[in-house]
Amino acid sequence: MRIAVLGTGKMGGAVGRRLASAGHKIIYGSRDPKGNSYRFADASNISVKPYAVASREGELAVIAVPWAFALDLVGSIKNDLDGKIVVDLTNPLAPDASHLVVGGADSAAEQIARTLDQSTVVKAFNGITADNFANPRFSGEVAQVFYCGGDGDSKAIVRALIESCGYLGQECGALSNARYLEAIAMLWLQLAFWEDWGGAFGFKIVRNGHAITTRDTLP
Ligand SMILES: NC(=O)c1ccc[n+]([C@@H]2O[C@H](COP(=O)([O-])OP(=O)(O)OC[C@H]3O[C@@H](n4cnc5c(N)ncnc54)[C@H](OP(=O)(O)O)[C@@H]3O)[C@@H](O)[C@H]2O)c1
Repeated sequence: MRIAVLGTGKMGGAVGRRLASAGHKIIYGSRDPKGNSYRFADASNISVKPYAVASREGELAVIAVPWAFALDLVGSIKNDLDGKIVVDLTNPLAPDASHLVVGGADSAAEQIARTLDQSTVVKAFNGITADNFANPRFSGEVAQVFYCGGDGDSKAIVRALIESCGYLGQECGALSNARYLEAIAMLWLQLAFWEDWGGAFGFKIVRNGHAITTRDTLP
């Protein structure tokens, strides 16, 4: 699949590289394609282009810029994303990362979806950190990527992307549940940095009744 990863920073870099290793063609969107291309020169199926070009060429897009710039960015490339699946991995953090600036009855993902009203927005990957992204296992257990929003087809496509990165996908219902997925990412930050857990942990839901994952074998 041709995937536009919008943002070449820590998280965009980690997600794009992992998806490229899984066989996808990655087109990074960047404010400075020339300046950032050298960072991906070692990868054969990665290119770096202006945001609008990457959005146009991608069949699916991943929003990987800081929240403060996300709405301006998606507003500027809205037409290029019409009719496409847009994966939002942003967390609406305050500049000092001490709290969420959106929450309660709204979320970053819902605000992006209101701007991209002709796209199908799915929240995913926001609860995994860039440093951990390449390794989904913690003491042998595979972490889950929680995702919500979209419809049956888009959820299946995003789940397949999650699993191609080596994670288990956990479907979490409607896009409005992004309010809580974004809060879970905030919990991760609090535990890692303020409760001194360190960064080597991920989340996983366990429950009775029926299997919550469909994949038996993982890379
Ligand atoms: N880091 C993590 O572990 C992590 C985990 C989960 C979710 N997230 C979320 O992922 C998003 C990106 O975080 P990050 O850690 O990757 O941030 P980052 O390293 O600071 O990179 C952000 C990228 O956004 C792009 N960008 C576009 N417009 C920008 C502007 N006006 N000012 C600055 N950068 C701009 C830049 O790429 P170009 O220079 O190429 O345009 C920059 O490299 C955030 O919403 C964050 O909450 C991060």
